[in-house]
Amino acid sequence: MRTLVAALLLSLPCLAQEVTRYNPPGIDPKDLPPSLALVQPVGRLAEVGGPTFTRTNKGMTVTMDLDATDLYGGGEVTGPLRRNGTRIELWNHDNYQYKDYGGKRLYQSHPWALGVARDGTATGVLFDTTYRSFLSMQNGTVTLESTAPALPVYVIHGSNPQEVVAKLGQITGTIPLPPRWALGYHQCRYSYAPEREVEEVATEFRKRHIPCDVVWMDIDYMDGYRIFTFDPEGFPDPARTNEFLHQRGFKSIWMIDPGVKKDPGYSIFESGNQKDVWVKTASGQPFVGKVWPGECQFPDFTRPDVRQWWAGLYKPFLAKGVDGVWNDMNEPAVFEGVDKSMPLDNRHEGGGELPAGPHLQYHNAYGMLMVRATREGLQAARPEKRPFVLTRANYLGGQRYAATWTGDNSSTWEDMKMSVPMSLTLSLSGQPFNGPDLGGFALNAGGNLWANWVGSGAFFPFCRAHGSKGTDRKEPWSFGPETEQAARIALSRRYRLLPYLYTLFERSSRTGEPIMRPVFFADPADPSLRSEQQAFMLGPDLIVVPAWAQHPRLPKGQWRELHLLPGDDGPFQARLLQRAGSIIPLGRVVENTEQDSLQPLTLSVAPNGSGASGELYWDAGDGFGYRHGDYRRSKFVARQLDGRWKVEEVGHEGNRAPDWKRQDVTIVSSR
Ligand code: GLC
Repeated sequence: MRTLVAALLLSLPCLAQEVTRYNPPGIDPKDLPPSLALVQPVGRLAEVGGPTFTRTNKGMTVTMDLDATDLYGGGEVTGPLRRNGTRIELWNHDNYQYKDYGGKRLYQSHPWALGVARDGTATGVLFDTTYRSFLSMQNGTVTLESTAPALPVYVIHGSNPQEVVAKLGQITGTIPLPPRWALGYHQCRYSYAPEREVEEVATEFRKRHIPCDVVWMDIDYMDGYRIFTFDPEGFPDPARTNEFLHQRGFKSIWMIDPGVKKDPGYSIFESGNQKDVWVKTASGQPFVGKVWPGECQFPDFTRPDVRQWWAGLYKPFLAKGVDGVWNDMNEPAVFEGVDKSMPLDNRHEGGGELPAGPHLQYHNAYGMLMVRATREGLQAARPEKRPFVLTRANYLGGQRYAATWTGDNSSTWEDMKMSVPMSLTLSLSGQPFNGPDLGGFALNAGGNLWANWVGSGAFFPFCRAHGSKGTDRKEPWSFGPETEQAARIALSRRYRLLPYLYTLFERSSRTGEPIMRPVFFADPADPSLRSEQQAFMLGPDLIVVPAWAQHPRLPKGQWRELHLLPGDDGPFQARLLQRAGSIIPLGRVVENTEQDSLQPLTLSVAPNGSGASGELYWDAGDGFGYRHGDYRRSKFVARQLDGRWKVEEVGHEGNRAPDWKRQDVTIVSSR
């Protein structure tokens, strides 16, 4: 009986016991704005042992000693993984090439820090405000200097950092399970236009047998950059473009920005006017600011009726066969605007649970509220499909609505190397579905750089190459045969790992665990791993060591070299190390995820003294049948019997029959 109770307790999430809430003293909690970060109220209220709150002439400063040797988090940041001695501004900013403000203010805001003590125990602190703030980490202490009049703080203690990060995901929301195709390779450029270029790129991928799932349409598909329109010359029949892609096993993602061209007669502008959806200036007029189409007005996404209006715009758009949506410029970016955005005293009306407030309060949540509406629109228009939305701006908790990328980086060695700590820091801040513009957005990339980037970038959760207008072409074949071959191998490795990746994504969507993880997760009590930011982990069982990494710090214990296909020990390819004791499920190399990966299923077994075990999650790859049992979460175990390895599925959850007809086993250097 006692074991039964213990087992039950283990399987039940007990949020309230592990999260502590501290209110600012002297404030009636009813006067605090509702949380945009948290999914629902959590936390046991406490008064002692928490942060210090100080009122300032700008707002409130909160300081918390985390008793930690190493500090992490803060969301989207430049600079090192280990954040000791850093100070960033949380104020979403269109930061081309990360050049403004020394790169210390980027497109997203995550008022969150994670402290790891010498012994590997960990503490997280969530500052629950959307107001403009500075976040500093120094000597084990985290400080938020905020313009918020007051804010509550949540503290999470854990016996290791994994627990704390997972708990952050549980309280701020986990990622929704994406469609499987979103885990494939994505090819983007500003812009593939006209239609013929889209077709050429797609054709080239299939001709050259380089795996790819998605082709992206940047702003030039639009008619004069008017959102929800198509250029009548470049894209006379977008349904035909999408059909062309679909027939070849591609999905299409099309960009939508928030700014609506101020253009009498343009249907979206007129419909916005009818409902008066706009963000207002302090004097109550619709705010007008310039973006790509010239003068624009901006929907006030704090209003539930505006979110509903916005969501509704996607139905006819998706009816053209659009598969996914890319929301950009949603900091919101305003050319020639105050600090490249709106005046701080612009008015947001709020509604529902949100009070009216100035732009100072809602700026950091603008992108998040936009993608919330976008996601709702996609879901309503196509209830049988899993929506895919990518966003540039976001706020803590925004992983509930959209995946993200790290904005306009450059094709430089520095940015390639920095993409690892950037993605890791986002992963430690609640956003596991992220990645950089692979190959770099601004500037030209040489073949050597691009090959090195794809060699390691192939293992990021979000894997999309992009390139800016005016730069040389950046498709895998644009740099000559050596880079093309490096890309073919690197991307084929990603597709071979698809069953493992999908298993990690599904797990993350349930538990809040990150997908890409810092190496110190393998051994949080080993202080020598805490700054490692070249090598990284994919789930608990795989370490990725980029070809360009120099003297990476790797965890103790047994890790086995994992080879996935011929040539993957060649130039530019990352080393893959599999944890001894694990089984990693592999698929066959496919050119897109609609093809049947699991014919056969290969189980890569890296035994330790007592054998090995692992998991595979698989389902239809799209839709919501999995919520009603149409999935199979298999548990595999490897044991030695009479000197031979026996590998079996020892149990499963879900009522889907195995998708594989044959199961192969490879043993990775058994002892
Ligand atoms: C922004 C985006 C970039 C996009 C460009 C044109 O700079 O960050 O990804 O290509 O706008 O839409």
